[in-house]
Amino acid sequence: MSAVPDEPAVRLRPMVVEDLPEVMALERRLFPHDAWPEQFFLDELDHTQGERATRRYWVLTEPVADDPRTDERLLGYVGMMCVLPLADVQTIAVAPEAQGRGLGTRLLRLVVDTAAVWGAEQVLLEVRADNDGAQALYTREGFTHIHTRRRYYPDGTDALIMQKPLTDLNAPSSASQLR
Ligand SMILES: CC(C)(COP(=O)(O)OP(=O)(O)OC[C@H]1O[C@@H](n2cnc3c(N)ncnc32)[C@H](O)[C@@H]1OP(=O)(O)O)[C@@H](O)C(=O)NCCC(=O)NCCS
Repeated sequence: MSAVPDEPAVRLRPMVVEDLPEVMALERRLFPHDAWPEQFFLDELDHTQGERATRRYWVLTEPVADDPRTDERLLGYVGMMCVLPLADVQTIAVAPEAQGRGLGTRLLRLVVDTAAVWGAEQVLLEVRADNDGAQALYTREGFTHIHTRRRYYPDGTDALIMQKPLTDLNAPSSASQLR
């Protein structure tokens, strides 16, 4: 697995409601045809709260020195749903001007690692069949194409379901090894 360059200025933290104006601006830039509505993010963030939380959302930001209105700029975000034994990458996005420097890899690995800590057996995601860049990232990170949802997107493009196993699903479980 290749290393992600360490960028000390880049900060990773949980997404909060106050991030949504910047998140929505980036969402609309990156997904002009199927951007999530803001309410969808609000509902997702609701599910990050409490002991029975099924979601985690993070943002990557960098400091800005030249804007009196803010001290940080959004570089990207990612969301995970985990209802055992499955975890899903709900969304992943990196600002166009910050792409290609390892941030997407970092966000994806964060979901995979968190899913493993939560005890998920596999991570699933959905990607447009015409999104070669994202598919290259997922393949490099150990995801394989397991299913196609024909004409899933509003413009008729297929959705590819990709999966990364976190455990050897054929291995005997520790419970059965005890017998
Ligand atoms: C997909 C995305 C999150 C990747 O983020 P990123 O920060 O550019 O990713 P990285 O810099 O970690 O690159 C990782 C790998 O992604 C692949 N990749 C990313 N963009 C690519 C592109 N435009 N063309 C080809 N490969 C690309 C490459 O395999 C790259 O590995 P490499 O650097 O060894 O060649 C980002 O391009 C993005 O936000 N795209 C628009 C939104 C989107 O499509 N999200 C995914 C929805 S399923």
